Amino acid sequence: MKVAVFSTRPYDREFLDHANEQSAAGHALFYLEPRLNAHTAHLAAGHEGVCAFVNDQLGRAELEILAANGTRLIALRSAGFNNVDLAAARELGFQIGRVPAYSPDAIAEHAIALILSLNRKIHKAYARVREGNFALEGLLGFDLKGKVAGVIGTGKIGINVARILKGFGCEVVASDPFESAELTALGGRYVGIDELLARCDVISLHCPLTPETHHLIGREAIAKMKPGVMLINTSRGAVMDARAVIAGLKNGKVGYVGLDVYEEEEDLFFENLSDQVIRDDVFVRLMTFPNVLITGHQGFFTREAMTAIAGTTIDNISAFERDGAPLHPVPTERKA
Ligand code: NAI
Repeated sequence: MKVAVFSTRPYDREFLDHANEQSAAGHALFYLEPRLNAHTAHLAAGHEGVCAFVNDQLGRAELEILAANGTRLIALRSAGFNNVDLAAARELGFQIGRVPAYSPDAIAEHAIALILSLNRKIHKAYARVREGNFALEGLLGFDLKGKVAGVIGTGKIGINVARILKGFGCEVVASDPFESAELTALGGRYVGIDELLARCDVISLHCPLTPETHHLIGREAIAKMKPGVMLINTSRGAVMDARAVIAGLKNGKVGYVGLDVYEEEEDLFFENLSDQVIRDDVFVRLMTFPNVLITGHQGFFTREAMTAIAGTTIDNISAFERDGAPLHPVPTERKA
């Protein structure tokens, strides 16, 4: 089947080509570097499938262009589908496939990497030592053992984060509208969100972006937190209100911030902008804090996760070609 693959980087090509070869599906993958938006959607003309990533836009405008040009399948290379207008997709008769689980360990381990790096200031130590500066001032950390760690969202990723934090000897508390027996089995405890905010030394976000979770961590939530709290976001940028976090950092309420996602990341992440002026003042302000560590949406970026993403994407395309529906469909009936 002919599939236009948007937001392609060399590594996407490597893993998708390998999966396509391995499955002997023989799909004709047309690789495009640009992000999918209303200006680029026409590039998919004549392709029955479109393969998209997290910052590709699949709003009504884009979907109408794709539908008019013969596309019927959207194969997402992600678990999340908050970038798709599901009502428009349903109206226009699209099938949408996604990769529900690839390697929850990859993202969980990245969240832990942010916690450890921020705490022990590895990012600073690396730069210092290379300059021959072996002074320890400013590098003081804390023992994770015995600290209270909060996990918001105990799905596939959150559970793994909870398990690792338990291994460090943290008390793990969690919040999720759907409680998981797995969390309780590993010694974690569900508490109300206010208790979680008030008691935790570290709070890590692992819920999806929905109208309910939009700016979940905002001024009000931060006001309820323990002074010096560490906030980690590897979920979706808009779960956190970056302006409120900046205010918290400025007044010292927030002690550390580790981000792998950012609300306006689509204009920044996955690109080399090192020779350009970054115009997003909120992002630039965040980068000026010594106690903020940002990575550019790389939580998923392990060999294991990329192999799984490519394999499931090719399986979704093959199932659509064979049966008219992807193997892992996104239900378009309601906004999840
Ligand atoms: P999942 O669907 O397995 O788990 C999400 C959990 O959040 C569910 O248990 C759900 O009940 C819970 N939840 C929903 N609303 C909530 C609320 N208001 N408060 C607390 N919990 C709530 O999802 P998974 O795979 O664990 O992914 C979690 C997040 O990680 C998603 O936002 C996803 O977009 C993001 N992600 C980030 C990646 C990265 O590279 N940084 C890669 C993959 C996923």
